[in-house]
Amino acid sequence: MHDSLPAHAVYTNIKASPEARANDVIKRLSFDEKLMLTGGWNKMHFPAISRLGIPPVYFADASQGVHIKDICVRVEKSTAFPDLMALAATWNTDLAYNYAQSISEECQAWGVNVLLGPGLNLYRNAEGGRNYEYFGEDPLLTSKMAISYVKGMQSLGTIAAIKHFLGNEQEFARHIVDVKIEERALQEIYLPPFKAALEAGGALAVMTGNNSVNGYPGAANTPLSGNVLRKEYGFKGIIMSDWASSQFWLDKQNLELTSGHSLLMDNNEIFAKYVRDEISAHPGKKALIEHELEEMAFNNLYAFFKSGVYDRPYRNPGLVKNMEGHRNIALQTAEEAITLLKNAGGILPLHASKINKILVLGTDEALTMYTGKGSGMVAGYNHVDYLAGLKNVFGDKIIRKPTTSDDEIKAADVVLYFINKPAGEGFDVNYNMPDGVEQSINKVADMNKNIVVIYSGGNGLPMPWLSNVKGVIFAYLLGQERGNALANVVSGKVNPSGKLPFTIEKRFNDSPAKDYNKMSDGKYYWKGGKGDSKKIYEQFGKVQVNYKEGIYIGYRWFEKMKVEPQFPFGFGLSYTNFSYTGIQSSSAVINKDREISITFNIKNEGRVDGAEIAQLYVHEIKNTVDRPVKELKGFQKVYLKAGEGRSVKIAVKLSDLAWWNDKTHQWQVNHGDYLVQIASSSTDIKQQVKISY
Ligand code: BGC
Repeated sequence: MHDSLPAHAVYTNIKASPEARANDVIKRLSFDEKLMLTGGWNKMHFPAISRLGIPPVYFADASQGVHIKDICVRVEKSTAFPDLMALAATWNTDLAYNYAQSISEECQAWGVNVLLGPGLNLYRNAEGGRNYEYFGEDPLLTSKMAISYVKGMQSLGTIAAIKHFLGNEQEFARHIVDVKIEERALQEIYLPPFKAALEAGGALAVMTGNNSVNGYPGAANTPLSGNVLRKEYGFKGIIMSDWASSQFWLDKQNLELTSGHSLLMDNNEIFAKYVRDEISAHPGKKALIEHELEEMAFNNLYAFFKSGVYDRPYRNPGLVKNMEGHRNIALQTAEEAITLLKNAGGILPLHASKINKILVLGTDEALTMYTGKGSGMVAGYNHVDYLAGLKNVFGDKIIRKPTTSDDEIKAADVVLYFINKPAGEGFDVNYNMPDGVEQSINKVADMNKNIVVIYSGGNGLPMPWLSNVKGVIFAYLLGQERGNALANVVSGKVNPSGKLPFTIEKRFNDSPAKDYNKMSDGKYYWKGGKGDSKKIYEQFGKVQVNYKEGIYIGYRWFEKMKVEPQFPFGFGLSYTNFSYTGIQSSSAVINKDREISITFNIKNEGRVDGAEIAQLYVHEIKNTVDRPVKELKGFQKVYLKAGEGRSVKIAVKLSDLAWWNDKTHQWQVNHGDYLVQIASSSTDIKQQVKISY
């Protein structure tokens, strides 16, 4: 802090509690300063209070690294890690911690003290433009990854702003959409990741969505922010708006004062005008309004004191040198994420000694894609794209030409066919591939059976060509080390172990979200920028999106509807195979005082080392209430040398059997029998054991 601070002020005393320090600042503020502290400054900052020596705080996007563009401090470079969807595909929570801690080092190196992530919305909608910024479709997997991410980020004092609270699962009309989510779905599906990130993760900031939920604007949502976050979870810290601040709900500015929110980004101009007008019209309200502003300012200052932002130099240039090590984390994440969906006849790995001509097809965009567009974009540096990575490993066996003749296709030992779909903020992504891609894959497959399709993107896709190709790799958006990671997997140096954090449907019509962008004129609309939202509003008024499927998201939906997905949640192949044996429960009966342990053995039966992600699902045998066929309640990633076996233990608690009763507004556990299922994917149950309550 500053040299000329008030002597012996509580707020300058680093031994005083964050609460006491925040209150001490507030005591010293004028009305205008309190109002100022409820809004952002200069797009990506929390304002300074210069006369008290309190500096501005810099924010940056997020989440696959530090997005350089909007930061005022001079950031020279930042690592493009794989996207959050890829991180989820690793199912490796220790890695998620290291990944976020590395990003936090880059934040501290350059002077960023709030990272605007991670995104904890769910993959409800396979066309969601920002799915790549989220951890997939399952609340438990998302919660576990979120806890590790937040802890890793905040271990160096960088605040993690979990977003977009809540129901921001699409880009279309995102500023004006009112999302209807029933109570049970909120409790069982959409709230748990945020709760976990706040309570177990300790996140100090939440960013609300631009959308409304159940009639309340995201940034003035009394039921969700005031009642759930502040009262029920006891959250002290920042609840900031998304960057449209309050411009799409001019008539509800009054709610901002009382709904639990604390910060309007990127500025509070509209709200400040409301406050001033209100006081001139009703001078008697000034004291009450001032008190409410104090609460808002307190929550913001509390988070900054708690995280130590005001007690350390704004940046730590010494950390720049750690970036070299971050390349390894980026590489490891990409390697562990890559998900092998098909490997007929063991076409992969490619053995350099047996293969001479590896033909690379696909657009340049498909060969270089590594991040999404918009605020989640991270530029990275020293990229190793797919072609470079493959050439590093296979040398001049890699053939890539501007045009390729049919004879060259026929003559190749193997064809690697790269495809992609763009992803990003402000637009959703058509489930179908652009015209011509599917025909082209089939045409090449007709000429050369040894074809492997490699897809980069943050959304599922139909695969009508699936039976014509030998291999399929889902490559997410793998960041700057993508080429090395892919080449290591294709060559067998790394055995793939990623598993899908979402379901891939056969066609978008199978999805519960299928009409999210269909308007009353019967047409489908796509765009989600601020201008687009305004136009849609002028044409149609507020847009309602009803999460009619309730708790049935992802595999819960496909299992309930008995619709076969193209690839199920939790699926991914390895170059080896694993056996599961000997399941046991530490007790046949579960009760509220004692969790039980489920143990089983996994053995790597093949000739190469590998990792398996064992998943634990719970199924109620005789459903007395409407509930999913089964739900993920635990998982463990197990690394096994060729031939090695190991005993694995996963705990089950009584709360893992619970469902939310929207009549009593409480969690409830039914008495009866349950199957605890150990599975290699949501559709491949290996072992099960019965327990009772
Ligand atoms: C996005 C947020 C982002 C913010 C700041 C908004 O448009 O929705 O996710 O953090 O911009 O860049």
